[in-house]
Amino acid sequence: MKFFIDTANLSQIKEANELGILDGVTTNPSLMAKEGIKGNDAVLNHYRAICEIVEGDISAEVIATDYEGILAEGKVLAALHHNIVVKVPMIKDGIKAIKWFTDNGIKTNCTLVFSAGQAILAAKAGATYLSPFIGRVDDSGWDGMLLIRQIANIFAVQGYKTQILAASIRNANHIIQCAEAGAQVITSPLEPILGLLKHPLTDIGLAKFLEDAKKM
Ligand code: E4P
Repeated sequence: MKFFIDTANLSQIKEANELGILDGVTTNPSLMAKEGIKGNDAVLNHYRAICEIVEGDISAEVIATDYEGILAEGKVLAALHHNIVVKVPMIKDGIKAIKWFTDNGIKTNCTLVFSAGQAILAAKAGATYLSPFIGRVDDSGWDGMLLIRQIANIFAVQGYKTQILAASIRNANHIIQCAEAGAQVITSPLEPILGLLKHPLTDIGLAKFLEDAKKM
């Protein structure tokens, strides 16, 4: 399973990259705004900066919601760097645009996926990745992991090539369950990734080894 970090924060991206386990980055307009990135040039420069840090797929989201607008924006984003993946919302014009990008060799990430039906459409259009939002499904009283398992089953039965990029990760257990369910990728903030490191018995065991090492 590939690990992407879900942030536009350059220091967190660097920290995750230095762990040596990072395969890519996802961003969205909310994450970019949170970092104070404002204006078209600043946004494009920020994507360039991320591409310089991480050697892997970097999702950059379009703002347009009409077919021509999505194509125009997506072409500019894709031209920034060979690792840019154009992130397109799960809407009718988005699906049409994903088909066009696929036919023209541009990688895509279909975002805001909340149902198996949406996932099937994204796969049919040839999306490179599709992003089901686990945490937001959980937040609304449904089961995000159930959605991941359902999509993984359908894709295995149908032989769809689109990779399941589990998004909206809230904790380390989400990551573990995604690995079990067969998601090809997770995208997570730094904290749940670092949460995978934690176990009290590791801390207790290490303290004892270090204490005993003094007696060696
Ligand atoms: C990533 O591609 C998504 O935009 C992101 O994971 C959404 O996460 P959130 O639900 O925590 O905002």
